[in-house]
Amino acid sequence: MYRTHNCGELRKENIGQEVTLSGWVQKSRDKGFMMWTDLRDRYGITQLIFSEEKSSQELFEKARTLGREFVIKITGTVIERTSKNDKIPTGDIEIEVSALEVLNAAKLPPFTIDDDTDGGDDLRMKYRYLDLRRRPVQNNLIFRSNLALETRKYLAGENFIEVETPFLIKSTPEGARDFVVPSRMNPGQFYALPQSPQTFKQILMVAGMDKYFQIVKCFRDEDLRADRQPEFTQIDCEMAFVTQEEILNTFEGLTKYLFKSTIGADLPDFPRMTYDDAMRRYGSDKPDVRFGMEFTELNDLAQNKGFVVFDSAELVVGICVPGQAENYSNKDIKKLTEWMQRPQIGAKGLVNVKCNADGTFKSSVDKFYSQEDLKGWADKMGAEAGDLLLILSGETDKTRKQLNELRLEMGRKLGLMKANDFKPLWVVDFPLLEWDEDAQRFFAMHHPFTSPKKEDVQRMLNGDHETMKNLRADAYDLVINGSEIGGGSIRIHDRVLQERNFKLLGFTDEEAEDQFGFLMGAFEYGAPPHGGIAFGFDRLCSVMNGQNSIRDFIAFPKNNQGRDVMIDAPSAIAGEQLKELQIQLNVQESGGEK
Ligand code: AMO
Repeated sequence: MYRTHNCGELRKENIGQEVTLSGWVQKSRDKGFMMWTDLRDRYGITQLIFSEEKSSQELFEKARTLGREFVIKITGTVIERTSKNDKIPTGDIEIEVSALEVLNAAKLPPFTIDDDTDGGDDLRMKYRYLDLRRRPVQNNLIFRSNLALETRKYLAGENFIEVETPFLIKSTPEGARDFVVPSRMNPGQFYALPQSPQTFKQILMVAGMDKYFQIVKCFRDEDLRADRQPEFTQIDCEMAFVTQEEILNTFEGLTKYLFKSTIGADLPDFPRMTYDDAMRRYGSDKPDVRFGMEFTELNDLAQNKGFVVFDSAELVVGICVPGQAENYSNKDIKKLTEWMQRPQIGAKGLVNVKCNADGTFKSSVDKFYSQEDLKGWADKMGAEAGDLLLILSGETDKTRKQLNELRLEMGRKLGLMKANDFKPLWVVDFPLLEWDEDAQRFFAMHHPFTSPKKEDVQRMLNGDHETMKNLRADAYDLVINGSEIGGGSIRIHDRVLQERNFKLLGFTDEEAEDQFGFLMGAFEYGAPPHGGIAFGFDRLCSVMNGQNSIRDFIAFPKNNQGRDVMIDAPSAIAGEQLKELQIQLNVQESGGEK
């Protein structure tokens, strides 16, 4: 037997018992005549004691050979510690070891396996099995497992059934590139890995499943960021015979339940904000509403006073940063301006107004504006003495995006984004289509299966080009603390409307039929009205734990180049395999055969 107990289990009540434990050597302290070793497993740490006096010479010598991360099995007696450690649950006791077996020696690990590690990202990923031994990463995976369990519990309780959908499919456009898989039996043809199970879950509704969910891997070949992985997990859901209202209520219920059951947090009812409002008030469709600093538009007050930059702008808009007038020196403002002018943000300049304690104003555009003018701005922005106003101008969409970055930066700087302050909201009424000026075509704002609002259906079927830009969809996002946690929509369930949508998106009839004939065909055999949502499961994990990166909630994540550095993937494949697949590579480009 390897163990009678685990390393997190023994307490005062066990004193006097003989026990056997197995685990990893965390660290040892050798005092010459006495040695303490921390034995670790998933459940915790138990202190072992070897002493010259009580242990045999042979045992004591063997104990001294133990290195970090050796795997050992010990037997001994639970005794009370003389100096207790109230930081760990087993801190009252230690094990006086009578037998020690080394189950496996270990090389010196390349980084410290402790809560705080000295290992850089790449090293930790290469030796992910060592990184995963660290408590914070283990806790993340335990959390994830628990969250999945609670999700299943809740949705099962609401009559949802979990259905698996295939991974080898035909391309489903969700806005990213597909990962493709060659088919040996169908030379020259490829499967695509699903960007989401979107079309399958709709087919399941046509099939009468009524309420579907799946905790499912999705694959997207897109640029990676802290909150984006090429393979990630969704809680994917679909319901038949539902309105948007019912969907929002159901999944608000799920979200509240998950927060309560896993981290004990009570979420308030989720406010709703239209897409237009979100863009106007925050310059983002995923506003972080943990703090204020909402946008105030100043065109009416700031234009036509001779300041040509503002006069020629489509939008003049600013934020009021509370209490920061005195904290921002000219040098600080200059730094902030330069930060805004970096190519990533691309602002041309930044106007500031300081609301002085004595009621006067000092601005970077004093030449053009009187104290009265500036007071007008301050009043409109709800500013008080001591506040700092930051103002941008330019083309509407761009300027809003830039001011969003500035607002978030100020929120970060002022410590207003508190990790355990959860502020969820629904963003609703997204546009159906987005016009891309460069490509001269429409893109689906959510995906091509999203339904226009009922009142917009006729306009969509008959309207002109300009009308298409103003169609609203029954589409919604769940946003928590500035992160898009989920998104969904009511779907088109009618062939004619779906055909029209494909046409607007630039598909020819043949292309639409070729790619989605199966779905439109299904719509002709009694498709119920339906809709759904998908949560980004990894994102939900990280936001619930107040973290930005989803990587630490994924057991084996990819790095920013999309590589798994532990197994070294992707990699070239053997010539034989390629031949079998009838794929010819340009050897130079592929980096040669392995
Ligand atoms: P959408 O594309 O909005 O919708 O995706 C749903 C949620 O998945 C998460 N997500 C990601 N998480 C990590 N890495 C990524 N690369 C990544 N991409 C997306 C986000 C997002 O909100 N089929 C539709 C859902 C529907 O209409 O029901 C869909 O996939 O949190």
